[in-house]
Amino acid sequence: MSYYERHIFFCLNKRDGTEASCALHDVELAYAHCKGRVKALGLNGPGQVRVNKAGCLDRCAGGPVAVVYPEGTWYTYVDRHDIDEIVERHLQGGEVVERLLLAPEVGR
Ligand code: FES
Repeated sequence: MSYYERHIFFCLNKRDGTEASCALHDVELAYAHCKGRVKALGLNGPGQVRVNKAGCLDRCAGGPVAVVYPEGTWYTYVDRHDIDEIVERHLQGGEVVERLLLAPEVGR
């Protein structure tokens, strides 16, 4: 059994120049909102859920991106409602949120 049941990483990276990067979106707010919701629902801690910041995950063209392990499910999101849905349906309920999945071919 792993230390956390689920682990979500938010890319907060800003790439140089005009390249697409997650930090061009409100990623700090999304990360903070997710962390707050997980805590408010009592999901945080060992055996449950961990929310972490990440550097570039090399899928910048689909940004902003977040990935949930152990499933390895990649998401893109727009607003707090999307984050709420990921928290409640996936991190809490174990159900993939199909409408927010990042297309498999999206890379840098
Ligand atoms: S900047 Fe977010 S995946 Fe590269």
